[in-house]
Amino acid sequence: MVCYKLGESHFLLVLTCLWLWLWWSTRIHVIAAYHSLRPGDTLNSTTELCSENDKYCLGFSQFSSAHNSTYLRIYAKGKGDWNMWIGNRNQPLDMDSAVLSLSHSGVLKIESKDMEPIILYSSTQPSNNTVATLMNTSNFVLQRLQPGGTESTVLWQSFDYPTDKLLPGMKLGVNHKTGRNWSLVSSMGYANPALGAFRLEWEPRRRELLIKQRGQLCWTSGELGKNIGFMHNTHYMIVSNDDESYFTITTLNEELTRWELLKTGQLINRNGDDNVARADMCYGYNTDGGCQKWEDIPFCRNPGDAFELKEVYLNLNLKNFLANSSYSPSDCRDTCWKNCSCDGFTDYYDDGTGCIFVYLNLTEGADFASGGEKFYILVKNTHHKGTKKWIWISILIVAALFSICAFILYLALKKRKLRFEDKNRKEMEINKMEDLATSNRFYDARDPEDEFKKRQDLKVFSYTSVLLASNDFSTENKLGQGGFGPVYKGIQPNGQEVAIKRLSKTSSQGTAEFKNELMLIGELQHMNLVQLLGYCIHGEERILIYEYMHNKSLDFYLFDGTRSKLLDWKKRFNIIEGISQGLLYLHKYSRLKVIHRDLKASNILLDENMNPKISDFGLARMFTRQESTTNTSRIVGTYGYMSPEYAMEGVFSVKSDVYSFGVLLLEIVSGRRNTSFYDGDRFLNLIGHAWELWNEGACLKLIDPSLTESPDLDEVQRCIHIGLLCVEQNANNRPLMSQIISMLSNKNPITLPQRPAFYFGSETFDGIISSTEFCTDSTKAITTSREIESSEHQWGEEARNQLHFS
Ligand SMILES: *[C@@H]1O[C@H](CO)[C@@H](O)[C@H](O)[C@H]1NC(C)=O
Ligand SMILES: *[C@@H]1O[C@H](CO)[C@@H](O)[C@H](O)[C@H]1NC(C)=O
Ligand SMILES: *[C@@H]1O[C@H](CO)[C@@H](O)[C@H](O)[C@H]1NC(C)=O
Repeated sequence: MVCYKLGESHFLLVLTCLWLWLWWSTRIHVIAAYHSLRPGDTLNSTTELCSENDKYCLGFSQFSSAHNSTYLRIYAKGKGDWNMWIGNRNQPLDMDSAVLSLSHSGVLKIESKDMEPIILYSSTQPSNNTVATLMNTSNFVLQRLQPGGTESTVLWQSFDYPTDKLLPGMKLGVNHKTGRNWSLVSSMGYANPALGAFRLEWEPRRRELLIKQRGQLCWTSGELGKNIGFMHNTHYMIVSNDDESYFTITTLNEELTRWELLKTGQLINRNGDDNVARADMCYGYNTDGGCQKWEDIPFCRNPGDAFELKEVYLNLNLKNFLANSSYSPSDCRDTCWKNCSCDGFTDYYDDGTGCIFVYLNLTEGADFASGGEKFYILVKNTHHKGTKKWIWISILIVAALFSICAFILYLALKKRKLRFEDKNRKEMEINKMEDLATSNRFYDARDPEDEFKKRQDLKVFSYTSVLLASNDFSTENKLGQGGFGPVYKGIQPNGQEVAIKRLSKTSSQGTAEFKNELMLIGELQHMNLVQLLGYCIHGEERILIYEYMHNKSLDFYLFDGTRSKLLDWKKRFNIIEGISQGLLYLHKYSRLKVIHRDLKASNILLDENMNPKISDFGLARMFTRQESTTNTSRIVGTYGYMSPEYAMEGVFSVKSDVYSFGVLLLEIVSGRRNTSFYDGDRFLNLIGHAWELWNEGACLKLIDPSLTESPDLDEVQRCIHIGLLCVEQNANNRPLMSQIISMLSNKNPITLPQRPAFYFGSETFDGIISSTEFCTDSTKAITTSREIESSEHQWGEEARNQLHFS
């Protein structure tokens, strides 16, 4: 203001004044916005940084006037002794030269004369747009500002380096990504913030807070059941995810909520003036209030022994000095407790560190009286020691008496026993042998047929062995998706390959029923059925282990243009025969009368010699045991293979399998899927197509063009014929598997096919029943009515059997 009066002549002076004014105004600006450090800024013992809400400040200050050393502290404003954070706990700095600086290269560090600098953060990529701010929460945060945006990245924050205070927003726990652990460590002593003896940690697996003294567990909170809760006047929150698991306290009001781990081991809540933990009481045998009993307690210490503060006049020879500031009072107590000749302790230095130990057993020279020095003296619990001794003596006497009695009794009995034993031994052995021979887990032992069957025992696989074999059900090992769950390839430790079927969890069966059912299926032994090797039950998991089939399944070859060439007619006919034999066994010769219900090309597996093996058998029945035998509300099966009565009404019988077999037969002959067939606008599936060709007398047109070598046309024709018989609308008209096999194997006359199911073809063929003149000679003969009657009779019997077994 003075400057303006001077006029233009004093141009130089004006300029100087202007410069001074500019400098002053920027100073004002810096001071006004002094809650951040920008690159190039420094903070020394004469300046400080305060948060925007003016509650917290960051600066260098002494702990006590007795020391010239200084610490970089964040403290609550107006409450200078409330340290929220200390930047150099273990390394006091020279007061006059201490500086906190943020350099242009992005390094945040504390320096002072004759000291190694303390690097708080050093950037890997130097950057000028960083800023270190003291937040309203008392968190001192170094951030990189993204150019132009409001976005910023936190590079470093004081909350990640807790001292002995837990504030809302700070975490106790672990960051799984960086491996950083957040814990509180108590101070060494009064006005000495160096790392002390106690550490407060969060144990995420057991969900509890722990306090350890020099690594020894001394207190636990017990499991905190809820993720959000209230304890000791503090709201807390537990967070656990892939990145981090931690415990934090939250604040609901304006109060300065915080927990503090004191140098004594006490964990206190400054808001509610409440002890969260009294780890200062946790030593020796004490198990009160979360205390944990110490592991190795010397024999001279007994439950109830405790240190008490007493005043005593002591001769110098009863004291032992340990002038080591690395010892906090709890370390002194620990040392004294473990040394049988030690009777007490106190601190050595003003700040509470170092030890003086007391040895009273020298008897002379100790005088307990008020006004003496204050010591923590170990007061022994003599009462306890007495009772303890008595208990031991009583136990010993009782034990001795008991063993003498037992020995006498034993001798007396032994004589008698020896006499009986000889006599009974032979008898018992015979009984045992008989028991072994006749015992059977599932069947009546009197049935001689079952005697043979029980030897086909199933192996029980452990879940870990299954996981190992299937490489944890890895997708690379997945072979496919079966009707009841995914199938994986597995290799057992002995090198044997297996197929592992993991059943989807839809079965409502109990474990016992499941096992029993499995045992029954395990007994189905036929060369055209995939062999069940074992099973595994683990929790909800139901896993079946089958023999492994090298050549995948029939559909893999049949419906593929190039691979189908590998299946010449001989092989195909062999497959047809195999399937029919397998089905006959399931329907007729197995104890169970199993109806497959999901017979299809993908359920026909091929071994290394292209022999067919039916898979998934018996599961259909297993899964519906509790449902009605012939009528089910849940239709399992595959569209295109399902018989009309099953697909529409849920009625199933052996004839539903026969229908599926018929479809399969036509597919094997034609190399096409039943459902893949389209004929212009008409709904015409493979069955319909075959039926039309049949009626045109051109059924051989159905033959798969991949069959380059000319097949046995007679056989082909017979297969088509049988296929059409199998897919007839009326289940009663379909042949039984036994009849099919006899039709396949010899050239016996067979009945003529009738209009198949799902044929909604052109009107021209509607109502045509007989087609005597068409196609082939072998169709000319017609079965006698007697034969039909007998087959119907047989079907009726099978249905009854089915009712009986399911
Ligand atoms: C502290 O910093 C201020 C401004 O940067 C400076 O004026 C002052 O001399 C410094 N004090 C000491 C003791 O270095
Ligand atoms: C502190 O420093 C001053 C001057 O450097 C010195 O006179 C004094 O003895 C020091 N005090 C202590 C406790 O070291
Ligand atoms: C003080 O005690 C600590 C811990 O027991 C030890 O490592 C250190 O060497 C001791 N210092 C002195 C000076 O005896």
